[in-house]
Amino acid sequence: MDNFEKSKLIDEAKRIIFKASEQIKNHMQRPYDINTKQDRKDLVTEIDESTEKFIIKKVRSSFPDHKIMAEEGTGDEVNSLDGTVWIIDPIDGTMNFIHQKRFFAISIGIYHNGEGIVGLIYDVMDDTLYEGIKGEGAYKNGKKIPELTKERELKDTLIGINSFWSIPNRRLNEEKIHQLIRDVRGTRSYGSAALEFAYIAEGIIDAYITMRLSPWDIAAGIIIINEVGGKATQVNGEPLDLLKDNTVLAANEVVHSGYIDYIEEK
Ligand code: IPD
Ligand code: CA
Ligand code: CA
Ligand code: CA
Repeated sequence: MDNFEKSKLIDEAKRIIFKASEQIKNHMQRPYDINTKQDRKDLVTEIDESTEKFIIKKVRSSFPDHKIMAEEGTGDEVNSLDGTVWIIDPIDGTMNFIHQKRFFAISIGIYHNGEGIVGLIYDVMDDTLYEGIKGEGAYKNGKKIPELTKERELKDTLIGINSFWSIPNRRLNEEKIHQLIRDVRGTRSYGSAALEFAYIAEGIIDAYITMRLSPWDIAAGIIIINEVGGKATQVNGEPLDLLKDNTVLAANEVVHSGYIDYIEEK
């Protein structure tokens, strides 16, 4: 992809995300349908669906040869990252959207032949755009985000982790997770994977650990944190695969490997 194509792609992706965000804000003032997917905690609203359709329509009209992977199923069936692929989460943090009316984001990651080119995470109610551009850096509302500190030890870190870890689980050694929670400085749980990645990039948390995320939860975040000295892998340190669900360990690179011993999968 040449520079001209790349800058057209970035401009258009930003235009789409701003417009989609406006539509969400308007629509959420009116009543909307809420449904469940796999279980009673897996929520989806008509606004998740209409936002996805809106974004896809715009992408298709500007870039008819690009492929689209999206959470609510209105994209393409994507089996490879060849060509240009948009990986879209129309609302990341649907439970926050419904209950809290804030702390949710639109996430768009654009990959070209498997390489992350542009990652955009838009915190809708805070009007904050996190942006990562391969080789050019990461930005928060247009302002360059500095490289993450190299002066960080695991004992001084604040980590994003949710309450699933406290539930007895056949897949994990809970004792080790309890030890991790004792050993770090503190834990936070924000309810939007995309925003947790953005917060790592911003340096306001140091890591995010979770046992199952889909490609659209992480596609943009990976690009953004890579640009500031963050690293995202599976919890065993293996590379992430954007064609399937993954466990995720995203962190400031200087502490990333320190967490791996604590997460023992059975
Ligand atoms: C969810 C959020 C949440 C994470 C879940 C995701 P959704 O995405 O990112 O923080 O814990 O695993 O599925 O469904 O709100 O787009
Ligand atoms: Ca969902
Ligand atoms: Ca999501
Ligand atoms: Ca979603």
